[in-house]
Amino acid sequence: MEVSKDNLSTILDVNDLEDGVQHVNNPIVGLEPIVKKYLGAVKDYRQEGNSFFFSDGNAQVEVRVVSDEIIRVRLAPQGVFLEEFSYALSHNEQKITVFTCVENEQNYSVQTNTVACVINKNNFLISFEDINGRIINQDLSAMHWEENIDFGGFYVYATKKCNDDENFFGLGDKSSDFNLRGNRYLNWNTDAYSFGKGQDPLYRTIPFYMGINNGVSYGIFFDNTFKSHFDFACQDNDKVSFWADGGEMQYYYIHGPHMMDVLKRYHTLTGTHQMPAKWTLGFHQCRWSYYPEKKVKDIARNFRERNIPCDAIYLDIDYMDGYRCFTWNRKHFPDPARMIKELASDGFKTVVIIDPGIRVDENYSVFREGKQNNFFCRRCDDYFMEGHVWPGRCQFPDFTNPKVRVWWGGLFKELVDAGVAGVWNDMNEPAVFGSGTFPVDVRHNYDGYHGSHRKAHNIYGMQMVRSTYEGLKKLQKNKRPFTITRAGYSGVQRYATVWTGDNVASWEHLKIGIVQCQRLSVSGISFCGTDIGGFSGEPDGELFTRWIQMGVFSPCMRAHSAGDTAEREPWSFGQEYEDINRKFIELRYRLLPYIYSAFWEHYKHNFPILRPLVMLEQENILTHSIQDIFTFGDKILVAPVSDPGARTKNVYLPPGKWYDYWTHDSYSGGQEHEVSAAIDSMPIFVKAGSVIPESPLMQYVGEYEVDELIFQIYYSDYEVNSFYYEDHDDTFAFEQNIYLEKKYVVNGDQRSMTINQTIEGLFTPRYETYDLKIIGLPFAPSKVLIDGREFTDNLEFDDLKRLRIKSSKSFKRIEILA
Ligand code: GLC
Repeated sequence: MEVSKDNLSTILDVNDLEDGVQHVNNPIVGLEPIVKKYLGAVKDYRQEGNSFFFSDGNAQVEVRVVSDEIIRVRLAPQGVFLEEFSYALSHNEQKITVFTCVENEQNYSVQTNTVACVINKNNFLISFEDINGRIINQDLSAMHWEENIDFGGFYVYATKKCNDDENFFGLGDKSSDFNLRGNRYLNWNTDAYSFGKGQDPLYRTIPFYMGINNGVSYGIFFDNTFKSHFDFACQDNDKVSFWADGGEMQYYYIHGPHMMDVLKRYHTLTGTHQMPAKWTLGFHQCRWSYYPEKKVKDIARNFRERNIPCDAIYLDIDYMDGYRCFTWNRKHFPDPARMIKELASDGFKTVVIIDPGIRVDENYSVFREGKQNNFFCRRCDDYFMEGHVWPGRCQFPDFTNPKVRVWWGGLFKELVDAGVAGVWNDMNEPAVFGSGTFPVDVRHNYDGYHGSHRKAHNIYGMQMVRSTYEGLKKLQKNKRPFTITRAGYSGVQRYATVWTGDNVASWEHLKIGIVQCQRLSVSGISFCGTDIGGFSGEPDGELFTRWIQMGVFSPCMRAHSAGDTAEREPWSFGQEYEDINRKFIELRYRLLPYIYSAFWEHYKHNFPILRPLVMLEQENILTHSIQDIFTFGDKILVAPVSDPGARTKNVYLPPGKWYDYWTHDSYSGGQEHEVSAAIDSMPIFVKAGSVIPESPLMQYVGEYEVDELIFQIYYSDYEVNSFYYEDHDDTFAFEQNIYLEKKYVVNGDQRSMTINQTIEGLFTPRYETYDLKIIGLPFAPSKVLIDGREFTDNLEFDDLKRLRIKSSKSFKRIEILA
């Protein structure tokens, strides 16, 4: 007879069971099948500080007021929360003014002065409302979970309502269309060599998205490092779900109403990039691999002889001895310190790759040290985690162990002493040949909170680059470290720049890259870029040049290519393309003061560097599907050309007035224009009223001391603010206020234009004067007043019809009169 709950009582009387004695052959009483369980009706609640705990009798939900606009929700299926720990959070202080919990017959409502989290007593459905009672985001089902028999813990789920016209953005480096709606995604950091459009998962886990619901934006950050899943109205058109294979259902609701507000608030949780050294914003030339030394020198010489600006040369894995990290192949690089010094004297920084796999080799000091100190990862039964990567059989440091991070950081000493300026961390998903990555039973320290690779996989790469960053910061003294990583988790931006991994030399991949950079930017990772030209495969000259053009407006501008491809430098495609590539790399260098200022705005005020059109005009639903036009900072709009043979492009400009960067023709926004996109050009527009700082041309950052700064100033008949930031370029002196932040207000009417300047900060630049180029005046100027003093005699126009004014760097007000 089969034993079931129904006939159990006829077989034995459960009361006859001896207390505390479990007999192997006894049927187990009360064993429930594993099913998804949902929260039931709310039975009670209590408050502890800024947390409110609601219970259905078994499970508990914590609603925590994190700031006036951020509320965190956590679920404990059996009433006991996991310990509080997150690698994502930056521990920035949050501002909470007032909050309270109000109860009525149906609901509890946890309220701040801007947002309410409303919990339905009957069904535990949670919704988020603004101060006017408008529902921004709401549960479709109550939070639920399913026990995980294999590993313990729970699969945890949240399901939200999705409105018909609701769209979704974010989630890191996904290669699908920009709007996430209609797709399902998986987060499990993966070495995705030559990934295709829509291939998932990729290299990073950024479990943060923004929705736009009826013109109002909000964000959800699901801070869970386990394998996680997001479904944006893919399975059901009226549902958005997110779930994970373990850990806690723990998410932050981040209030808008604008996407920009949401993103800035996400940055208050997870931090921003550090202020980068200015040279890192120049052009970087990379290749798998430049060796021996002579080849590296040849590349450097070519840049200088051909007058193509460049700041950094990368050494890929072949600089090492048998791919052993922190060693040099002395045959190819007999005296690295000398070579790096010589490169530096010609204005080149040297960046080297360092992977996580450490070759199992008793004659190799890094392996021996790691082994002696028990720093390498182990399997569940205490065997070492071993796998093959470039060096052959390897073991892998457990970067989730703080001691390992300190040790690893110290290993960079010799490289730093040799003059290495930056470090490139690769293969840190972690990648293992054959199996792809570690088996899930590998154990990790997880900063004392312990866990298997299921929990640590997605943050392994971030902790590796964190340890690299922190090591460099100590070793390089007062210099800003440069690190670039392939893998990461939310918050990785505090430690590194990222690139999008092994893309392909195809037009489709150029398009994917345009989306990926914007997507990373709205997912908290502003300092990002693609392998310009495509990593694998062969671009033709046109594709490479179009990619260089896009690269000018990628926060990180790095060309890179796989070892089995033809030579891939800006001069590799013949004179015509070389000239165009030079022109665009020069443009990058001219715009560096503007680009550097945009990074300051990111670092200081949480603004993203790239801003997709939807972020500028979210209420216009048409912008939700535009993915090939964006602004860099808030003043320059670009529309990279990503079709072969294209010589025009349709460009939608957001409301307001815009100027063509090349011709200075003015355009009205709020509509689409067909504009020229000749191969030696690309559509670039500047917002009316902008003050764009530019640098005289240099072959590398700091080539010479600037004796005059250039500003392009665009007339506007409404008031527009701009700013310009400068400091020592690569030290931390700015933290002691040794910087200048200059603010400009431009305004005009039919007969006059004014430019006001205010200056803050303690930095003293060497230059004394400005070369102001005034664009778009609707009148013939007859008089210019600088701080009240008249300059009328020598009003000059250049061949681009710009009025030229020389002024002192400390002017307060310039008036241009008809
Ligand atoms: C990986 C990286 C690539 C690098 C190569 C060799 O494929 O993504 O950028 O060149 O490894 O180190």
